[in-house]
Amino acid sequence: MDKGKAGNFLFRNAHVIDPAQGMRGRADVLILDGRLMEIGAHIEASADWVAELQEIDLTGKWIVPGLLDMHVHLREPGEEYKETIASGTAAAVAGGYVAVACMPNTHPVNDCAAVTEYILERAREQGSCRVFPVGTISRGLAGEDLAEFGELRESGAVAVSDDGRPVMNSMLMRRALEYARVFDLPVISHAEDLNLSRSGLMNEGSVSTVLGLRGIPNAAEEVMVARDLLLAETTQGRLHIAHVSTAGSVHLIRQAKQRGVPVTAETAPQYFSLNDHELMTFDTAFKVNPPLRGSGDVEAIKQGLADGTIDAIATDHAPHSALEKDTEFEFAANGMIGLESAVPLILGLVREGVLSPSEAIAKVTCNPAGILGVPLGALLRGMPANLTILDPEETYVLDCSTFRSKSRNCPFNGKKMQGRVLMTLVEGRVVFTGLQDGP
Ligand code: DOR
Repeated sequence: MDKGKAGNFLFRNAHVIDPAQGMRGRADVLILDGRLMEIGAHIEASADWVAELQEIDLTGKWIVPGLLDMHVHLREPGEEYKETIASGTAAAVAGGYVAVACMPNTHPVNDCAAVTEYILERAREQGSCRVFPVGTISRGLAGEDLAEFGELRESGAVAVSDDGRPVMNSMLMRRALEYARVFDLPVISHAEDLNLSRSGLMNEGSVSTVLGLRGIPNAAEEVMVARDLLLAETTQGRLHIAHVSTAGSVHLIRQAKQRGVPVTAETAPQYFSLNDHELMTFDTAFKVNPPLRGSGDVEAIKQGLADGTIDAIATDHAPHSALEKDTEFEFAANGMIGLESAVPLILGLVREGVLSPSEAIAKVTCNPAGILGVPLGALLRGMPANLTILDPEETYVLDCSTFRSKSRNCPFNGKKMQGRVLMTLVEGRVVFTGLQDGP
């Protein structure tokens, strides 16, 4: 795996956005031997600097802290035909991410130190970016007994979640929130009441009626969001709601935050970019859990992002092979890949006026970094650079055949996009460049 070269750059005239430090404006950025040395109005070139310093004019381009995706599925160990730590992190850096948090529904599941350590070791050997493992809430993802949170934390897990499945047992969820407090771990909730959603194939509404497909009501998510909020209020454990998709969930989380409940939330680009009308094509690329919802929900998600109810945008990158997707709708697996299409969709929120540029960048940098407690999300002087360069204007047609991901279950293939990732630096090393005259 090519880990990239340590960068020596003088970026000129960039639009620098660092919400963590309240920074937004035109600046030059100097990187020497991978270290971010200076951000300033005009940096004078010095004869002492290394000969191979590249001076690049970035007029109209953005430099932002390296992006963090707090919710991806890397499929390793166990389903390497869908994705590996190598291919998933290569997709991540091509999408502008310097780090990902990977969900534990692998084979075996990540419910112990051995699996967490394996993931971290593979990431060190073969990864293009940083990987933060998420451990399970329940042993074996079985929803019966708690995993060893202390062991998971000590071996490097940054959160716990049974993502892919809900914790149906309310007592277990209560104990998880209590136990996680001891280790300062956020508990990431996949909020779904299986009794309400079971055998559903898409959002319950007029489209599911027309198509004759069994529906999943909004309440399947909302009753579990409500339960988890009450449990977080009781226990004061740190709750994070994953992939929020409904208006009711946004409303419940907003109210809980006002009451001071220790809760944060994320949504994914599909829940503010697509609605359930996409299912009219029966294209299994649109089959995801939670399902694409109605247009009113999409508007509520945007509202929740705008007013800060939803703190973070994560992709829920869920690779599946043609084997699981090129089949009857009923039998197709849930999930879509997202790492290499997220940036233009997030920038769409800025063009629509839903978020300011700083707010949009915060949702993929300092906000998720704060939730996971990882030292990323800001442009720190003197440190190895973790940064992303974006062109917010460039338009192009998304072509999944160019993706680094092993899977192709992307619903945006062939769609016109605006906004492109030009360069990603991880710990000072250029791990991705799409710059025409780049290194
Ligand atoms: O669509 C989904 N796919 N939702 C999940 O919660 C799990 C994920 C997966 O692992 O494929």
